[in-house]
Order: sequence, then structure tokens, then C-alpha cells
Amino acid sequence: MDKKTLQDLRVSLDGCDQELYKLFQKRMEIIQDVAVLKKTQGLPIYDPERESEILVRYEGSGREFFQNLLRLSRYEQSLVLYPYNLVLIGFMGVGKTTVGHFLAQALGRKFVDLDQLLEKRFQMSISQLFARFGEKAFRTEESRLIEEVSKDRGLVIATGGGVILDPQNVEHLKKRGKLVLLTATPETLITRLSLDETRPLLGQEMKEEKVKELLEQRKSAYEQAADLSVCTDGKTYEEVAREIMSLLASSKDGQL
Ligand code: S3P
Repeated sequence: MDKKTLQDLRVSLDGCDQELYKLFQKRMEIIQDVAVLKKTQGLPIYDPERESEILVRYEGSGREFFQNLLRLSRYEQSLVLYPYNLVLIGFMGVGKTTVGHFLAQALGRKFVDLDQLLEKRFQMSISQLFARFGEKAFRTEESRLIEEVSKDRGLVIATGGGVILDPQNVEHLKKRGKLVLLTATPETLITRLSLDETRPLLGQEMKEEKVKELLEQRKSAYEQAADLSVCTDGKTYEEVAREIMSLLASSKDGQL
């Protein structure tokens, strides 16, 4: 029997890939129809039971392959149902980062947390950034990042609590995104933030007064910027994420 050369094997692989790709495209076309049906029936994109049912059929790297395929399917559906970036805004402690993680996972989307990106970029915590360069420099970097990130599509973005202070930030974020405001009562926020030492604007002392004062100052800017608002009091972050998805999906043609 002839020994196959590396070149022969690569030709065979390319043939497999072409077949796979054709099937992948066919699968994605079906997925788009699924997304339209789900939208009309008000069903969620992420159905963990259905995904488990599919995944148990495969093992090892086969299962990993299907996990990735299912994530891409969620992503494709999410673009049909929500053809825009999902941008979470709101005061410190409302849960933007955690809700953002749930949303991104359920929609197979990339998750971008602006504060975390800034921390990575500058190799220091937000508190250190404030202490070293001051709030003004922090805001300049935050705005620069917002302009960059707003050019991308299909993202879930968690913003820092102060982004709405600059109308240009809001304008950039709205170009390709819907702004979802997360709210909570001052009491809830104070409970969530009381032991937190990562928020430089709140300092150590008099947190309660500071929270109330800042909330009052920003309330109308948050409300004006928001396309949709969801209260987080007494809900788990997963419930909040589900509520956002169903409210957005039931809005006409993905518009609000
Ligand atoms: C800020 C909120 C923080 C962070 C910075 C300033 C604010 O983000 O960007 O400390 O002005 O409200 P979180 O809302 O994620 O805590």
C-alpha cells in the first residue's frame, strides 16, 4: 500500500473541512430560523436542558467541539434577536459586571468590562489609577476606551458607574448599542457596598451619605441615557439577566 505523504493528508483534511464548513453554514441558516421562531414565541436563546441533551451524545474533544458550536449558535441567534451591543449602565453596586457575565454566556457573546480593561491596560487597580493620576485622567482614559469599544459589534459591555457623566460617552455607546440601566434602592446599594474597598469615590468613612449624594446627582443622567431600565432589588443577577433578555426580545423589531 502506498504511503501517504503529508501533502496527501492535508488534501484529505481540506476536503473534510469544506464538507464541515458547508454543514456548518447549513446549521447556521437553520439556527436563524430558530431565532425568528423563538422571538415570536418569546422563548429564550439559552436553553440549558436542550444543550445538555445534545452534549451528552458526545465525549472528550467531541463534546468540546459541540460546546463551541452551541456557543456560536447562541451568538448567531443573539444577533437576530438583539442586533446591537448590550451596554449595562448604573450606579456602583448594581451588579453590572455579574449580570454582564450571565448575559454574555447566555448569548454566546464576548464580554467587555470597561474597568477591568482599564486595570489590565494600566496594570493597576481602579483605586490605584485614581490615587496615582486623579479622577480627571481616569475619565479621559475611560472615554478613550469607550470610543474604541463602541466601534465593535455583538458585545455585552459593562460600564463604570460614572460613564454617563460625559454625554459624548453616551453618544458613542448608543451608536451600536442599547443602554440598559440597572437600578437598586440606596438601602440595597449601601448593604452591597458597605464592605467594599474597591470604589475610590466612596472612600472609607460616611459611605451612606456619599452613596445617597452621588445617586441624587446622577439619577437623571442615568435615566436620560437609558433605553431600558431594570430594578435589581431582591433578584438574583441571573434573574436580572433573564429579565433584560425577555424585555429586549419582546420589543418591536429589536427596537425600543
Ligand atoms: C465609578 C464607578 C466604578 C469605577 C470608578 C468610578 C463611578 O465602576 O469606574 O471607581 O464614578 O461611579 P463600578 O460602577 O463598576 O463600580
